[in-house]
Amino acid sequence: MKTDYSALHVRWMIRRDQDRVLEIEKDCFASPWTRGDFERAISTRNKIGMVVEELDEHQVLGFMIYELFGNRLNLARIAVEKRYRREGVGSAMIRKLLSKLGYFRRTMITAKLRESELEAQLFFKSFDFRAIGLLRGYFDGNGEDAYMMRYRLPSRCTRKREPAFICLDRDDWKAWEK
Ligand SMILES: CC(C)(COP(=O)(O)OP(=O)(O)OC[C@H]1O[C@@H](n2cnc3c(N)ncnc32)[C@H](O)[C@@H]1OP(=O)(O)O)[C@@H](O)C(=O)NCCC(=O)NCCS
Repeated sequence: MKTDYSALHVRWMIRRDQDRVLEIEKDCFASPWTRGDFERAISTRNKIGMVVEELDEHQVLGFMIYELFGNRLNLARIAVEKRYRREGVGSAMIRKLLSKLGYFRRTMITAKLRESELEAQLFFKSFDFRAIGLLRGYFDGNGEDAYMMRYRLPSRCTRKREPAFICLDRDDWKAWEK
């Protein structure tokens, strides 16, 4: 059954959410972030954490962490507890992010996804994100490749052509991203 969007609330992540967020993190990822990783992320000036909460029970069902850059937002983490998936919870968070874009400020959202995260790739595709590049060996640990996915506000005047899909090694990608 689809969740009633009006029953979901996306709000800032606060210290009190930490245990629940760690629980969801462990439920979702083979190499979960630690409490320290979250604390470091949230205390960084350009990083913002948000949770999605079900209004009746105030139960946190998922969370996201995103970074602010000059012309784009980068989604560093998004997760929904397994038992609440395919009910529109992830969509509520992406809608919140999309509402932060504007033609005179940030016009893009990016996300780097593991090659094995097929479900997440399909999720982003459903919001018109496009895979624009492959970063070889990007992830620490198993050296898995990353797909860079990007959503761009539709151009209002000329039709901008999407750049060709690129494959880069880690250092080249870092330079390209700047
Ligand atoms: C990716 C994720 C956040 C999606 O959350 P969700 O709440 O299940 O997403 P939604 O219910 O809002 O899905 C919206 C649409 O995305 C697409 N989608 C989502 N999951 C999908 C899947 N497993 N297979 C195919 N399409 C999928 C569908 O089009 C879906 O619409 P529909 O259900 O009407 O068909 C969730 O699967 C997750 O937490 N994955 C593990 C963590 C992860 O890999 N994060 C990304 C890297 S940080």
